[in-house]
Amino acid sequence: MKLSTVKKADPKAALVWLAYEKEEGFANAFGRTASVLRARLADEGFKGSEGQGAFAHLEENGRTIRVVALGLGRRPESDVESFRRAGGRLARRCAEHRLASACVEWPERGLKGDPRATAKAFAEGALLGAYRFDRYLTMDRDSLAGLESLAFAGRAASRVSAALRTARVRCEAVLFARDLVNLPASEVTPRRLVEESRAIARRGPIRLKVYGRAELKRMGAGGILAVNAGSAQEPYLIHLHYRKGAGKPLALVGKGITFDSGGLSLKPAGSMETMKMDMSGAAAVLGVFRALAASRPSADVHGIVAATENMPGGRAYKPGDILTAMNGKTMEVLNTDAEGRLVLADALSYAARLKPAGIIDLATLTGACVVALGPLIAGAMTNDAPLLERVKVASEAEGEPLWEMPLPREYRDDIKSRVADIKNIGPSREAGTLIGGLFLKEFVGDRPWVHLDIAGPAWMDRLPRSRPYLHLGGTGFFVRSLLALLERP
Ligand code: BES
Ligand code: ZN
Ligand code: ZN
Repeated sequence: MKLSTVKKADPKAALVWLAYEKEEGFANAFGRTASVLRARLADEGFKGSEGQGAFAHLEENGRTIRVVALGLGRRPESDVESFRRAGGRLARRCAEHRLASACVEWPERGLKGDPRATAKAFAEGALLGAYRFDRYLTMDRDSLAGLESLAFAGRAASRVSAALRTARVRCEAVLFARDLVNLPASEVTPRRLVEESRAIARRGPIRLKVYGRAELKRMGAGGILAVNAGSAQEPYLIHLHYRKGAGKPLALVGKGITFDSGGLSLKPAGSMETMKMDMSGAAAVLGVFRALAASRPSADVHGIVAATENMPGGRAYKPGDILTAMNGKTMEVLNTDAEGRLVLADALSYAARLKPAGIIDLATLTGACVVALGPLIAGAMTNDAPLLERVKVASEAEGEPLWEMPLPREYRDDIKSRVADIKNIGPSREAGTLIGGLFLKEFVGDRPWVHLDIAGPAWMDRLPRSRPYLHLGGTGFFVRSLLALLERP
């Protein structure tokens, strides 16, 4: 989808009306036809309430005027997220009515909030809402076509063009991550993640190091190698380094299990159906780096991805195995389906060795987190309150919610092993997400660290009515928040 700013609205494009509930709105900008259209929208029950959308059209002097009206809710309760949702609603309406282009008048005043922030959010909603994963559909693609171009018109339009550029760069990265998650696991193998990383590194000041099986053996990456043992695909540790030579670098670490069968602790068929999504953390990290090549923030960033399948092949690792992670700690495996923490043990050890100012890991780590927080909210755990605060500020601004969960020292005993330094599951199903966090904590050394369990929001099994810019399947969760965080010095 294309974004642009124009002086005057294209008469052929669908006009977008944004309206607060219980207010007349600024529909007056469209002249005398406005009252007729407003009456038609009212007939459709349009009141401007949050999440509402309506479509009306009118023939006038042989041409058709089309209007998509979008509700922002009551002014006092609305915020930038209301605009993101309105943008998503626009994309959905346009797909429904086959409208390829739309134009929105962006006023200097009249909309609550900074016009740049609201324009950015509205554009994000439209860009993300217009996404489709249709490359495997053999039917007539034209019948699926939706919004292809969105223009911002009016006097404030030129003032928001930088904000629109930010929206475009970030959302391209989100859509890239969504594609990686939605593509089948037989396409997105660990090798494919390496190839995508190569393409990303070519786009900007980014250095790439890739460690294959032989190097991982030399480095003592016992977690990645063990999880990989039952797979026919080679494992990789991918290290992207965005180099500015300035600022305190952060390290982003992604879980890149390209398919999680559970290994010998095999998942039931139903739970396996969506497990191509178990590389969503890795996809988010790669998405971020794709955008860094364009947005070029001022501090260095490391991106580390542990990529392998978790398969039950003849050489597979087994319950009872004892592994040594890259930092020398030994891990007893009691369940091969708790594989994410084993590969992250190596990836976090590697990240900590780089001595970054902070580490943020993203992992679809536990089903328990989906039970606790549902499909829209990530679980956050930390050893450093100030770093989590920075993550929270970005998450709130971008409408990608998280909720802090504790790392209680008392629960550390639950993963004490009799034969190794630590074991990979607790004694019961209780506090599964916290146990996962406590396990990872052992591998970050003295570094400030935030763990994000994104098992819920990385993938949508059901459509959330409230967020029309999300779709079934991969969401690209937290790519925008990470970019916002990195761009704020
Ligand atoms: N990849 C799964 C977690 C997951 C579950 C992500 C559902 C998204 C949706 C992870 O590797 C896993 O299987 N975790 C186990 C841990 C348990 C064995 C301690 C789980 O959550 O059941
Ligand atoms: Zn698993
Ligand atoms: Zn997994």
